[in-house]
Amino acid sequence: MENEKQLKVSAIKNGTVLDHIPSGQLFKVIDILHLSECNNQITIGFNLESKMYGRKGIIKIADRYFADEELNYIALVAPNATVNIIKDFEVVEKKKLSIPDTVVGTVKCGNPVCVTNHEPIKTIFKTVVKDGKVQLLCHYCEKTTDVNDLTIIRNSR
Ligand code: CTP
Ligand code: ZN
Repeated sequence: MENEKQLKVSAIKNGTVLDHIPSGQLFKVIDILHLSECNNQITIGFNLESKMYGRKGIIKIADRYFADEELNYIALVAPNATVNIIKDFEVVEKKKLSIPDTVVGTVKCGNPVCVTNHEPIKTIFKTVVKDGKVQLLCHYCEKTTDVNDLTIIRNSR
């Protein structure tokens, strides 16, 4: 039997640990933070057992800290994710994410005829909450895109 105390993904000395990511959203979080272009040491756990989600994802990025604005984009796909700031092996801060008021770049407009899907224009959305559901209102076409059905634009910085 596996030792319950043993970490499934090794502890890091310094950096950021994103925990409690529903497994189905893990790769979207990786794209939101542009981690494929990051040169730091990154360890990723996928389909780990979790009491909260059944299966969760975890991402540990060594020696890197992110701006709150960048982290808050994660709330669009994983609102209950926890961001742990690690310094000298200790968790020195746990951040809760909040849904950003505006989303610039990163997300594709769901309207196939939107200008942003045909011209090299950065997407701009306003977030609107309707019946407890978060939707992104496109600045250009004024159509809404459901956050449960987001396509993340890679390399969108
Ligand atoms: N962690 C890490 N490296 C460290 C310290 C912590 O990778 N040096 C990771 C842990 O593996 C865990 C997360 O950071 O995934 C948060 O750590 P901790 O707060 O100690 O764990 P929990 O109490 O289980 O967190 P929570 O209450 O958020 O579930
Ligand atoms: Zn649009």
